[in-house]
Amino acid sequence: MKVAQWICAPQEIGCCPSLRKSIAVEKDLKKAVLRITAMGVYRAYIGGKSVTDGAFMPGWTNYNHFVQEQIYDVTSLCVGKTAEIEVLLGDGWACAEMLGWVAKDRPYAPFPSVRATLTLTYFDGTSQKIVTDESWEVWTSRILYSELYFGEVQDARVVPQKIGQAKKTNVHAKIIRQIGEKIIADETVYPRELIITPKGERVIDFGQNMAGWVRVRIHGNRGDRISFVPAEILDKDGNFYNENYRKASSVCTYTLSGGDDEFMPVFSFQGFRYIRLDEYPDKEIDLDEFTALALHSDIKRTCRFVCGNEKINQLYSNIVWGQLSNYIDVPTDCPQRDERLGWLGDAQVFCRTAAINFDVEKFFRKWLKDLRADQKEDGSIEGVSPKAGKLGTRISSGWGDALTICPWEIYKAFGNKEILSDSLESMEKWVAYIKSTGDNPYLWNTGNHYGDWLATDAPYGTCVGATDIGLVCTAFYAYSVDLVIRARETLGMDASEYKVLRKEIGKAFALEYTENGFPKGEPAILGKTEKPTCYTQTALALMLYFGLCREEDKSKLTDALVSLIEQSGKRMSTGFLGTPYILHALSENGRSDIAYDLLLQEKAPSWLFSVNRGATTMWEHWDGIDEEGRIWSKDMNSFNHYAYGAVFDWIFGVSAGIVPVEAGYGKIRIAPKPDKRLGFSDIVFESRKGTIRAAWRYTIDSVRFEYEIPADIEAEIVLPNGKKYAVKGGKHIFSIPALKK
Ligand code: BGC
Repeated sequence: MKVAQWICAPQEIGCCPSLRKSIAVEKDLKKAVLRITAMGVYRAYIGGKSVTDGAFMPGWTNYNHFVQEQIYDVTSLCVGKTAEIEVLLGDGWACAEMLGWVAKDRPYAPFPSVRATLTLTYFDGTSQKIVTDESWEVWTSRILYSELYFGEVQDARVVPQKIGQAKKTNVHAKIIRQIGEKIIADETVYPRELIITPKGERVIDFGQNMAGWVRVRIHGNRGDRISFVPAEILDKDGNFYNENYRKASSVCTYTLSGGDDEFMPVFSFQGFRYIRLDEYPDKEIDLDEFTALALHSDIKRTCRFVCGNEKINQLYSNIVWGQLSNYIDVPTDCPQRDERLGWLGDAQVFCRTAAINFDVEKFFRKWLKDLRADQKEDGSIEGVSPKAGKLGTRISSGWGDALTICPWEIYKAFGNKEILSDSLESMEKWVAYIKSTGDNPYLWNTGNHYGDWLATDAPYGTCVGATDIGLVCTAFYAYSVDLVIRARETLGMDASEYKVLRKEIGKAFALEYTENGFPKGEPAILGKTEKPTCYTQTALALMLYFGLCREEDKSKLTDALVSLIEQSGKRMSTGFLGTPYILHALSENGRSDIAYDLLLQEKAPSWLFSVNRGATTMWEHWDGIDEEGRIWSKDMNSFNHYAYGAVFDWIFGVSAGIVPVEAGYGKIRIAPKPDKRLGFSDIVFESRKGTIRAAWRYTIDSVRFEYEIPADIEAEIVLPNGKKYAVKGGKHIFSIPALKK
């Protein structure tokens, strides 16, 4: 039996290699199936037609563990007596010259290779296999250079030449069937305007920050060139600004053939809203030649939200675009600079919102497999998965907890217990790791952590917020143990051991970090707190939301939180770890009014500050560009970082009030907390059990509630006046006298 070999170009050939094989279709063809995978990324063609229905195949996994294989029915492409199969190879993630700042030299393999089997089945019952081996030819291609972060160079004049035979190579990654979503580019964005900047540079504005490709359809003189680089923002003077891309030079350079040309990166992508044209044929710039295509995993949109406040609507659009730009096979931090990595902290923070906006179950099942594979024997995990290269990142609280938080959120959203049974062992190993660190098994106060990353209670320019690191770590430790308890109970297992552990952590937390029920230390005020303290907005939010306080202390802790917010000018000072919970902590404790104050705040740090500055995606920093137009250090300033977009789960779950009482929305509660300042709120959500619509609207003298519940779904509706209604399926309308706010 013929077995496919891993094959590659015989040597470096100065372009992306094209590996080819002629096929004789011997008899009457019934079916043709291609199984294919690569180290690097591939595009496959039969008879010149694309067989690949996604970009960047075979996708991104930790190739030290496994690589996905795709299976295509290619019967319709194998027409006639002969056909040619061609596989174009690029470096992708596996052989990137630089994979994020952690891998500076080809992280998994020195050069790209492919392994494929084409099986032709004939009507007479016989079959024939064509496999990758040394009989394949290697040709040049017009893609002279392509790298994820550095961009792509194409020359349309190139006539591909045969340069020799393929060479066998060794690849050790285990091959698994495709388990993730494919990556597609299905959203088209047209240029908004051509800007000549004060510096005299020619800049095209697409009006939307995104991740993807600029497609150029152009006719010009043979040998003319077009070259451009991307940017997310213009600086305060209106000049092109891309210093925040760091080493990701992202240059696209194309040479024209003299005929009608179409150019678009094949194995590279960029994060951008603007491009600066550095080279362009000697003619007037024609914007019709340019189109932007947004690239993302093929996830189905499941939520639409609109309210009476245009700025909040823009915020929601920014959240959705942030998710699309960063859900490219792996949940990444950002799509533009020399990073674009599967940062665990960002992924867990945003996970609940992600699972409302889109059906991400399959997407997360794939990533969680990587996460489990990247977890070390002792239960620890670094901050990035798939692990990128030999260098490591920190083992950090709030990041490693993605191991417990993501499976739980995905289970809650889609109701499939398998994700919990698949993950339980790794969830428990993570908890066991934390328990084993330091002297006290109930505290986590050792190690090097990211803390409340980018919180603004510490002075301007500081990355780690003011909240005491041990407090943050121990709070997340407790939360992870809680999630193990919930997972075990959901799976019908005994959780008593973990309940004892959770109690002990609670006691140790209180002893170490609180005094008379309050967090220890000096209260932290926005931008002013030089020394770490336990008394911060984030600490209070975590204590309230994670249940790290006595029931009877909740009201005074809520007052303390409100007081800190007020002393900070009615603003938040929370970072990555506090922000997802602060609005919940307030509204669960009777202060939805303050939660709305924060949601609607327009001064930085706030969600609407960036909206007011024209943001079309979420910013990494609350004040990536501050009131004076000052740009946060070029070293770490992304304008497409979805973490703070996590606020949408509060809009959905509290303001609209939709809560899955049974995982997967089999049973729901709708307990809206309307606020006049939004005017109205209307959510249409496609759960697996059917479409849920939840809307409220302020009229002159009343608040009207409209609900549509899928047939057979039980819902409890709890109106703000305390009245409860048990309903099943159908349309339900209620009205109550107007509320003050
Ligand atoms: C990333 C973050 C990430 C962090 C770790 C940054 O460079 O962009 O979003 O979580 O490092 O703290």
